[in-house]
Amino acid sequence: MSNWLKSAIFYEIYPNSYMDLNGDGYGDLKGITSKLDYIKSLGANAIWLNPHYDSPFMDGGYDVRDYFKVSPRFGTEADFDEFISTAHAKGLRVILDLVPGHTSEQNPDFLKSAEPVRNELYDRFIWTSHEWQFPEGFKAISGRHNRKGNYIVNYYSTQPSLNYGFNNITEPDWQMPYTSDAAKATREWLKSVIRFWLNRGADGFRVDMADSLVKNDGSQSEKPATSEIWRDIRAMLDSEYPDAVLVSEWSNPQAIRAGFHADFMLDHHGNPYNMLVRHEEAGKHSYFDIEGRGDGAAFAKGFTEWYEAIKDKGNIAIISCNHDTPRLAPFYSHDQLKAIYTTLFTLPGVPFMYYGDEIGMKYKKDLPSVECGFGRTGSRTPMQWNTQKNAGFSSADRTFLPAETDKTVNAEAQLKDKNSLLNFVKSLFEFRKSRKELCSNDFEFVHAAGAEPLVFRRGILTVVVNPLAVKQTVAAEISQKAKPVFCAGKEAKPNKNGTVTVPPVSVTVFEN
Ligand code: GLC
Repeated sequence: MSNWLKSAIFYEIYPNSYMDLNGDGYGDLKGITSKLDYIKSLGANAIWLNPHYDSPFMDGGYDVRDYFKVSPRFGTEADFDEFISTAHAKGLRVILDLVPGHTSEQNPDFLKSAEPVRNELYDRFIWTSHEWQFPEGFKAISGRHNRKGNYIVNYYSTQPSLNYGFNNITEPDWQMPYTSDAAKATREWLKSVIRFWLNRGADGFRVDMADSLVKNDGSQSEKPATSEIWRDIRAMLDSEYPDAVLVSEWSNPQAIRAGFHADFMLDHHGNPYNMLVRHEEAGKHSYFDIEGRGDGAAFAKGFTEWYEAIKDKGNIAIISCNHDTPRLAPFYSHDQLKAIYTTLFTLPGVPFMYYGDEIGMKYKKDLPSVECGFGRTGSRTPMQWNTQKNAGFSSADRTFLPAETDKTVNAEAQLKDKNSLLNFVKSLFEFRKSRKELCSNDFEFVHAAGAEPLVFRRGILTVVVNPLAVKQTVAAEISQKAKPVFCAGKEAKPNKNGTVTVPPVSVTVFEN
């Protein structure tokens, strides 16, 4: 079993935007390799690399043209191998992005399946039986190919759904059972993709839209047939690649029952992560709302349910942000971010820090969409290394996305400032790695009510959080002798009567 995951700290890299060494305006693998020491110095011990595959980039690389090829935009096959071997030599694991549910419309298997005469890949994708069929509940694209019928897509019209079959068949003229030979052949193809990259040295995968495989498969928390497929793939990993991990984009405890080692708790409306830090954008308020309009109790209830459902079998992957989500800055100050990161990464789960969040890079709300990023574009801007041209990301005159022009937020400056967010993140990760309680299953909430301080226990550690601009006192069930071992902001103080006084916008971790 892949034990390394429990103590992993991931750093997510969007390759277009991290470091451009060849000066073409796009980030590249050589650029990432040149920054591995920086990543290691943060305290991360693993990387999640967003899609690096050959792609026409109609959805930021989540439209894969060739699953067995590195995008020339990011470099050569040798650059990829060098990236993996250098990362490993530095003690960094690497998980890749696996896109199992759909390909690019330019994928050669799709083009074969789109031919008008039946062939060996005719059933590799999902097609209706005739060109005027637009089944309810599906996105069907018509008139793009000579094959009779419309193809079903998973996301954009450029991303045809691979055929893993259907569970409940409602229209037998075009829906095949998930147990059919055609559907099973797709599954075997997927296994060949997985084996190919694990043999190249990858340590596992982040699995894109993991719940999307079998159609008509019930609700997100059921998906029995899709789960059956993943359990089959997990069995293959356990026997052939026991150290490899699968982290799903599913955002439901069902993912763990389906065999994933970890599952992302994403920014979905009303889920615990959303209630903790992410209500602002929807005009609602999260627990970290500085004026106290959030509800710690609702967060704690949701988180406990989620955690209890999976704790013995898998992990929650906890994000600072990701390539689909608005960055937390500028919605929060750096002091608030310190408190938020401390809370997120002392909760039970595997931390995922999105590149640039360690320095508080800002979400650029008004950027015009590039490569169908739409609202997500503003979270994908070039990494801000220093005050040079394009924030030190590239020497090109035109870059993939414009670099930040505000020169105050960058890694070089923050490395020199002992109070910076970057140096804080380093100490947080160091602290996390030094305390086995934080990688254990020892966890319970002690206090959660409205905007009052949130208190939770991790073994002999007690974490006390105050999101407000004013100090608060709370019954934290710790002794007056409890020792503060880590803090964001000013240290909380235990009182004689068993309560703790918690300074504004702060988190203190006590050892009892
Ligand atoms: C996932 C990816 C997102 C992509 C979509 C379609 O949600 O994270 O970036 O656009 O799937 O593949």
